[in-house]
Amino acid sequence: MSRSAHPAGPRHADVLPEGHYSAPPADLNALDPKVWSRTVERDERGTVTVGGIAVTDLAEEFGTPAYFLDEADFRARCRAWADAFGPDADVFYAGKAFLSRAVVRWLTEEGLNLDVCSGGELTTALSAGMPAERIAFHGNNKSEEEIEKAVRAGVGRIVLDSFQEIVRVAHVAQSLGRRQRVQIRVTVGVEAHTHEFIATAHEDQKFGIALAGGQAAEAVRRALKLDGLELVGIHSHIGSQIFDMAGFEVSARRVVQLLTEVRDEHGVELPEIDLGGGLGIAYTSEDDPREPHEIAKALNEIVSRECEAAGLRTPRISVEPGRAIVGPTAFTLYRVGTIKPLDGLRTYVSVDGGMSDNIRTALYDAEYSVALVSRTSDAEPMLSRVVGKHCESGDIVVRDAFLPSDLAPGDLLAVPATGAYCRSMASNYNHALRPPVVAVRDGEARVIVRRETEEDLLRLDVG
Ligand code: LLP
Repeated sequence: MSRSAHPAGPRHADVLPEGHYSAPPADLNALDPKVWSRTVERDERGTVTVGGIAVTDLAEEFGTPAYFLDEADFRARCRAWADAFGPDADVFYAGKAFLSRAVVRWLTEEGLNLDVCSGGELTTALSAGMPAERIAFHGNNKSEEEIEKAVRAGVGRIVLDSFQEIVRVAHVAQSLGRRQRVQIRVTVGVEAHTHEFIATAHEDQKFGIALAGGQAAEAVRRALKLDGLELVGIHSHIGSQIFDMAGFEVSARRVVQLLTEVRDEHGVELPEIDLGGGLGIAYTSEDDPREPHEIAKALNEIVSRECEAAGLRTPRISVEPGRAIVGPTAFTLYRVGTIKPLDGLRTYVSVDGGMSDNIRTALYDAEYSVALVSRTSDAEPMLSRVVGKHCESGDIVVRDAFLPSDLAPGDLLAVPATGAYCRSMASNYNHALRPPVVAVRDGEARVIVRRETEEDLLRLDVG
């Protein structure tokens, strides 16, 4: 595509329309390692590379938009979590963040466990060889079929989310002549500091059984009585994209309190607690996430301290990070189509994807970073909004960003930290074709989820 000249658009110094931005970065060509995956860098020509391959070559071979996943980074993050928690704890990768068969194989090889929350995720996991005993099955409304599939497969645990489900799972297990290992998910009454839609431990929402009012204690009472169930622990997940450890501390304390009550009432020490996922990642340079070893240290300390005080044996801890493992490992590559400078406002840069490949900006007001990756530029920073090609004005990928004012149609832009909840929440809105996921490692790139085609669209349309 040829580069056409266009007016530079508003400059940051002339106008300051409302938005979530501060001053433009000192160097628009710099790639902040906080938001880019480990092997991303610029080569001597100024082109960004991942796993040693230039984005221009990737775009040519795989097209745009596309997600490029840095496999070495993914594996390194799995190992960092596993090492941080050590052999006496379990790390379950939350498959909802992004799941494919290649990912399942990497997890299996790196020694992680897997949390699934639907029959589809379970099928994907089993079909790629994840041992069933390393799978935890979640969900607030699992169907009988899903429960049966999970029990038959022999999943390591089912996380019970309601009184009805306690009975349902017990019934299915018993009718199959099994005793299913289960945990009970409780809501601990913590207000996690995150977007309302992704906070899950306050009481007024659909997940879990409240500790308040003795509900969770009653759930334990019922589960302990049922032959089809082996109650092994208590589960709590307080929300997502959380930076502050205080919520996890309160949650751990309250879960241990419940374990103490269970011991006092039933003489049973439940051997496991799961503190869920939800650890935040850097989407922009302003975010400061915790390292896995800091998180592990903080959680281990709280749990052991509380257990010691209560005279309980310290239970085996598990955690379920999804975003913190896969989020930082991928970027979405887009090609610039049209560029519209709006006087006194900002420049709208349209790319060839949008809310169908990243709904998070529209849904949660999420912030992202973006960079020109096919070349460097010394042009002035231009206040921009990166938008998609869908038929609505909320179709925003990056709300506020500075891009070089010589940006032109045909340039490649990359949005980092799109590994989690982008492909997994992608849609066919406007009959968009969902982009591929390409794994890149040591100079090799291979498609792990292929691009949808128009034939795929028509195949489902059987009317
Ligand atoms: N465990 C449970 C029980 C969960 O419900 C979740 C996320 C996780 C673990 C993993 O959370 P993570 O470590 O990935 O934050 N679509 C939203 C996030 C929804 C998260 C739902 N549950 C987003 O794009 O931010």
